[in-house]
Amino acid sequence: MLSFPKDFFWGSATSAYQVEGNNFCSDWWEWEKNLELEKRSGKACLHYELYKEDFNLAKFLNHNAHRLSIEWSRVESKEGFFLDKELRHYLEVIEYLRELRIEPIVTLHHFTNPLWLAKQGGWENKNSVFYFLRYVERLIHLLCEKVRFWITINEPIVYTYHGYIVGIWPPQIRSLWRARRVIENLTLAHIKAYKLIHNIYKRKKLNPPYVSIAQNLIAFVPCSLNLKNRFATYLRDRFYNFGLIERLIRAKSLDFIGINYYTRNLIDVVDFKFQNLCLDSCSRHNLLEKNSLGWEIYPEGLYDLLMRLKRYKLKIFILENGICTENDGLRWEFIYRHLENICHAIQEGAEILGYLYWSLLDNYEWDKGFLPRFGLIAVDYLNYRRTIRESAKRFALVCQSGSL
Ligand code: BGC
Repeated sequence: MLSFPKDFFWGSATSAYQVEGNNFCSDWWEWEKNLELEKRSGKACLHYELYKEDFNLAKFLNHNAHRLSIEWSRVESKEGFFLDKELRHYLEVIEYLRELRIEPIVTLHHFTNPLWLAKQGGWENKNSVFYFLRYVERLIHLLCEKVRFWITINEPIVYTYHGYIVGIWPPQIRSLWRARRVIENLTLAHIKAYKLIHNIYKRKKLNPPYVSIAQNLIAFVPCSLNLKNRFATYLRDRFYNFGLIERLIRAKSLDFIGINYYTRNLIDVVDFKFQNLCLDSCSRHNLLEKNSLGWEIYPEGLYDLLMRLKRYKLKIFILENGICTENDGLRWEFIYRHLENICHAIQEGAEILGYLYWSLLDNYEWDKGFLPRFGLIAVDYLNYRRTIRESAKRFALVCQSGSL
C-alpha cells in the first residue's frame, strides 16, 4: 500500500471563466463572438448560480481542498469601479468552502482579462501591472482572513504562448517581441503582488500566506539522442519549464512551487532552425496512449519533474493534473498512475503539499469548446444536471484514506 502524508491536500480545481457562465465583460467573451456557437462559453456550467451544489458534491467526494479563480472582469467590470455585489459573491463562495472545511486555493488571474484592459493593450501595456495590483489589493483585503493559499497567475507561459506566439487565443498576436513584453509584465505583476499580499497579511497581523504561481510543466524527452533533439530539450526545459520558476525564486517570491502537469512532449527536430527547435515534435510514435485532445498520457514524467524540482528546496503543490476522455476507466487509471508516481517522489524526498485533479466538473475548454470532458463530475449542458463519475468515487476513497 502507498501512503501519503497525513496533512495532504486532496481535491480538484476549476477556473471561473470555464465554469461560471455569462462573463460578459471579459476579453474572452468578446473574442468568442467570432466563433461558431458551440465554441462559445455561454452559460458554461452555471456554476456561478450552482456553486453550493458543486461544493457539496466535492465534500461528498471527500475533497479537503478546492482551487478556484476570481473573474477579474466581474469584480471590476469598468476600470477602477469594483462591484460590491460581485465582491460579496466571491466572499460567500469562499465562506461556503470554509463552512464545508474545504481549503480554498484562490487564483487571481486564469487566462481572462477585463475587456477594458484588453482595449488598452492588455498585458503589453506596462500599466497592466498597476491595474493588476489594484485589483489584487482589493481582493486580498476582502479575503485575507479566509484564504491562506494564493495563486497570482495561472500558467504565464502558456497564456503568452497561445495569445502572443502561436496566436490562437485572444488577442491572436504572433510576435516574439510582443510576447516578451507580456511575459515581463506578468512576471513583474507576480513579484509585486507577492510582496503586496505578504504586506497586507503582516499589517493585519495574520499568519503569513502561501503565495505562488501555477506553472505548467511538460515532460520534454528527446526521441533519439542526437544533438538537435538534445539541444531542443534543453531549450524547452529552460524556457518553458524552469526559467520562470528560477527567476521567481531569485526574486524571493515563491512560498511553494505550484505546478500543473498533463503530458509529455517527445522531441524530434527536423532542422537546426529556431522554429524547429522550439516547436517540432515526434510524429512517429503513434501507438502511445492519448487523451481525447491527443496529449500523451505519461505519468512517469511527473515523477521525473518532481525529482528535478527537489533541487529548489521548496514545497510543491500539484495544482492541476487531469485527463479529458470519454472513457472513465481510463480516467481512473490516469489518476491512479499519477498518484503512484507522486507517492514514489515523496518517498524519495520531494515535499508535496497536495494533489488537485483538473477538473471538478466537465467545463469550457477554451478554444476547444465543451467537447473535451475533464470532469470528475459529468455535466449535461442541456439541463445542467451533474452526475458523479465512477472515477470520482474511486478517487474519493483515496482522498478519504490518504492511501492507494
Ligand atoms: C489550464 C486549464 C485548462 C487545462 C486543460 C490548464 O493548462 O490551466 O484552464 O482547462 O489546462 O487544458
